[in-house]
Amino acid sequence: MTLMDRFSLTGRKALVTGAGKGISRAIAIGFAEAGADIALLARTQSDIDSAAAEIEALGRKAVPIRFDVMDLDEIPKVVAGASEELGGLNVIVNNAGGSMPRALLDTSKRSFEKSFSFNVTTAFEFTKAGVPEMLASGGGAVVNISSGAGVMPDRGFAAYGTAKAALSYLSREMALDLAPHIRVNAIAVGAVATAALETVLTNDELRTAMEESTPLRRVGEVDDIAAAALYLASDASSFVSGRVLQVDGGVTNSTLDLGLPDYEPPSA
Ligand SMILES: NC(=O)c1ccc[n+]([C@@H]2O[C@H](COP(=O)([O-])OP(=O)(O)OC[C@H]3O[C@@H](n4cnc5c(N)ncnc54)[C@H](OP(=O)(O)O)[C@@H]3O)[C@@H](O)[C@H]2O)c1
Repeated sequence: MTLMDRFSLTGRKALVTGAGKGISRAIAIGFAEAGADIALLARTQSDIDSAAAEIEALGRKAVPIRFDVMDLDEIPKVVAGASEELGGLNVIVNNAGGSMPRALLDTSKRSFEKSFSFNVTTAFEFTKAGVPEMLASGGGAVVNISSGAGVMPDRGFAAYGTAKAALSYLSREMALDLAPHIRVNAIAVGAVATAALETVLTNDELRTAMEESTPLRRVGEVDDIAAAALYLASDASSFVSGRVLQVDGGVTNSTLDLGLPDYEPPSA
């Protein structure tokens, strides 16, 4: 076995949430290039169908599943169904997540809790549901798509940053719960060019500021994250669990100033 063989996913079965667009679509297609069969989940049928067609063109099996991950009670059924269609399950990528930044006093309890459900509870439920399937398949790897926002606090990110910090911590907890046969790691993703970041990237001033404050002087590409996910999903990382890998251009400080004003006492 060569070192490069450890990055192979030949014969592996992977379930990827939010795989119609962006980071997770690149992960799904990259994993298929590495030899895996893929179940792809998102809400937009045409997106998962077109990603599935790309995967099949690579000679791999694709199982597109139209599903809203916020339908938490249905997750066990969906995971069992995906595993049955794929003929087993070795890898879960919990990617579906996100939430828009907002000034603290404009962040409602409802949106705070929704951000937690979307970014944390979904990964918790998908991972739990996948445990028996991965054990029955001889073991597995879970990759949670977290965020730099969960590492570096930033104004406007109370809901999203707190949720992603919880997702990163959950990855460390579950890594202990599920060792030694299932590894769990997370990626703390920096700014990556996807639809989710479009409003920032189409604003020349914000984009330039972001690039200049990033040591590697660029915004990330989806394949930067897919490459890290391949490492964490494959045997290349077989001695790595409970870790949060920062893939963010080397940033040490926030790169996005939303210009939210200070809260001031009422003037006398
Ligand atoms: N882009 C960045 O700069 C960045 C930075 C840090 C972290 N991240 C994290 O990376 C992950 C992916 O972000 P992205 O930028 O790739 O987003 P994106 O380009 O907007 O793609 C998100 C994908 O998730 C699917 N999705 C959204 N809500 C869903 C739901 N309720 N159920 C099932 N699927 C759903 C979307 O499809 P449908 O709408 O059709 O369902 C789409 O396929 C998120 O967890 C995000 O927090 C991104």
